[in-house]
Amino acid sequence: MVAVAWVGGKVRFIDQTKLPVEEQYLETEDWRVIAAAIRSLQIRGAPAIGVAAAFGLCLALNDHHDAIPGSLRTSWKEAAAGLAASRPTAVNLFAALSRMTSALGDDFTADASCLRERALREAMSIQQEDVDACTRIGELGAALLPPDAVVLTHCNAGILATAGSGTALSIITTAARRGLIRNVYVDETRPLFQGARLTAWELARAGVPHTLITDNTAGSVFRTRKVNAVIVGADRIAANGDAANKIGTYPLAVLARYHDIPLYIAAPTTTIDTSIPDGGGIPIEERNPREVTHPAGVRVAPEGVKVFAPAFDVTPHELIHAIVTERGILHPPFAAAIAALRLPSPASPPGSSRP
Ligand code: MRU
Repeated sequence: MVAVAWVGGKVRFIDQTKLPVEEQYLETEDWRVIAAAIRSLQIRGAPAIGVAAAFGLCLALNDHHDAIPGSLRTSWKEAAAGLAASRPTAVNLFAALSRMTSALGDDFTADASCLRERALREAMSIQQEDVDACTRIGELGAALLPPDAVVLTHCNAGILATAGSGTALSIITTAARRGLIRNVYVDETRPLFQGARLTAWELARAGVPHTLITDNTAGSVFRTRKVNAVIVGADRIAANGDAANKIGTYPLAVLARYHDIPLYIAAPTTTIDTSIPDGGGIPIEERNPREVTHPAGVRVAPEGVKVFAPAFDVTPHELIHAIVTERGILHPPFAAAIAALRLPSPASPPGSSRP
């Protein structure tokens, strides 16, 4: 199963809002469908969003009209801006869009099929690099775990969230294949239940022992049971190591520190945004209040109640034990470790105001 793929000139993706009840795949030739799918979380998870956006731009090259000069450039810019506006926090989206645009070199004079080929080659590279990064993150991260390990994870940072085997879940499934995992506590992850719906589904498919808990059970688990590590993904990591991830990660990090349990962030280097000095600059998406008042579509709060619904929070670097990337495990001080990677700063895609 892959979350997003290019199949015969179309983008094929699994509708993650339907899981685990239904395994439904959708296909499209329209970048607008991709932008809407990212917005609605049919496609979600930072690296998967980046790959989907890259394929979305390939689809934009279908929109041109031979009779209108410059129409390829116009279509591309419109799609880049539309895709960039779909979700603000995961930097992989913006990194993929600007990489795609650089690959074309702002040269839209070539004919459509030549441009399409060039764009697709770049999108496929973005996809393959993420596949490789996931595998490497899994190998490096699994070596951090002791035998008979009990770990806790939050949200979904698995196959569904990437082009490959996942980030946090790649570590867990790699360690499980090496016989190192006794149990994985899976936070349900309110309000959209990515842990309950997606991570529990993936771990069951992979045959990894796991136990679902409500988000507010983590403290009790840390206090009363053995937990060796908390392993989560990230949507954007600032230059000093502060990491934005699914809402609820920060309180988990505080709890883990109190109980002396290491918190590992697993992310490809495409998730690091060196243009942002610290977590205070990371744009945090706010979601529709209905996602809080109507979990699974059922109203649980009074009509008209005021809601605060950030999708992500920022874990300060002081609470992070290590960051597992495909280029190695980063240890504190993270500012120096990240600077040593000499990462390019993702430029803004055309027509977008990159958050
Ligand atoms: O709102 P979501 O479901 O897209 O949030 C996803 C997360 O927070 C993941 O942990 C993160 O994107 C890392 S995925 C490898």
